[in-house]
Amino acid sequence: MKELSLHILDIAQNSIKAAATLIEIEINENTNSNVLSISIKDNGNGMEEEMLQKVTDPFFTTRIVRNVGLGIPLLKIAAERCNGFFVIKSSIRIGTEVKAVFEYNHIDRAPLGRMGDTMMVLLNNSEKFEIYYKHIYNGGEFVFDTVEIKNILDDVDITSPDVLLWIKDYIRENIDDLKKHMHLE
Ligand SMILES: Nc1ncnc2c1ncn2[C@@H]1O[C@H](COP(=O)(O)OP(=O)(O)O)[C@@H](O)[C@H]1O
Ligand SMILES: [Mg+2]
Repeated sequence: MKELSLHILDIAQNSIKAAATLIEIEINENTNSNVLSISIKDNGNGMEEEMLQKVTDPFFTTRIVRNVGLGIPLLKIAAERCNGFFVIKSSIRIGTEVKAVFEYNHIDRAPLGRMGDTMMVLLNNSEKFEIYYKHIYNGGEFVFDTVEIKNILDDVDITSPDVLLWIKDYIRENIDDLKKHMHLE
């Protein structure tokens, strides 16, 4: 079982490869409606309709050699296995949006994992793009926006190891606090 944060890493790395300058990640956990949804939206190069059909099918080109990886089909399979669903939309030169929805307490639903680590890996190379990450838990939310962080950092490089480690802890602490707080409501 792969942690959902690793799926998110895979999908957001596709956005980086597609030359996106903005990646919007939204995770919405609702224990009352028993839903966990993940949405990753970018303003990158996008895909043609034909490509879009191919990328969601893990068995496509099994007769030859699959020249694309399995990041997208693996997330689709994971969501569908948990009574959820998967949607991908894309337009050339406009961008791509991936959405995966899971039944929150499904026995096969992988844990979310460490979003701080995922963000650290993504930001390791983030001079050319911004990430807007919103995490909602039972209606309460935490937002991490690299535009804001870069403003605060001023001349300090967001990709410097000290900053990345701080970001990792900052995200972990804020999500832990969000969950604690929203449980008490
Ligand atoms: N956000 C995106 N924007 C443009 N093209 C994408 C995007 N995500 C995926 N693709 C295309 O779909 C292909 C399959 O993606 P994926 O399943 O993650 O495998 P991999 O990244 O290993 O090739 C990519 O190689 C790329 O051509
Ligand atoms: Mg990929």
